[in-house]
Amino acid sequence: MPDFRFSSLSLIVIVMMTAAVFLVACSGEPEQPEPEELTLSVLMAQRTAQMAQIRNLVVSGDEVVVEHPVLFEEGVPSDERYLQEDFISAQQAFEEEYAAFIRKMNDVRVDAEKFNAVVSSCIDCHERYCPGPIRVINNLVIR
Ligand code: HEC
Repeated sequence: MPDFRFSSLSLIVIVMMTAAVFLVACSGEPEQPEPEELTLSVLMAQRTAQMAQIRNLVVSGDEVVVEHPVLFEEGVPSDERYLQEDFISAQQAFEEEYAAFIRKMNDVRVDAEKFNAVVSSCIDCHERYCPGPIRVINNLVIR
């Protein structure tokens, strides 16, 4: 069954990406998240894995279903900078864009262009606040 082969492949990709993102901090230095604490960094890694999953579905043309949106606001940030107003408003703007993207996935087929638009917003914020993971995020872009 080709479907089965595809899903085991995508699972491997997701696991690898999740493993990779846990090793990246803003500085690009390795960082160990506290497993008990719901940190912004853990949520970022979760959403990166979710985006990798959505990416595979977009590429394969399968139906995209996201059951649990990951909300960044719920995460405890590692730095006071990320509690300041400019960051919070960048975060809120992104969450709105992301929520709209997720909502639309139920109505229209998500294409590479819409997916890449969300990824480029991830990168915009990272260029301003947290350049370390940009290389990882760039791997999400559908080329
Ligand atoms: C509003 C700004 C902002 C947006 C938008 C944003 N990020 Fe982040 N991201 C951050 C910050 C800040 C951190 C560091 C969090 C911390 O250290 O507390 C981070 C951390 C990360 C990390 C590293 C996690 C780890 O292992 O420590 C990854 C990977 C990541 N983001 C991916 C993404 C992806 C993918 C998107 C888009 C779906 C995204 N980010 C959108 C600001 C943002």
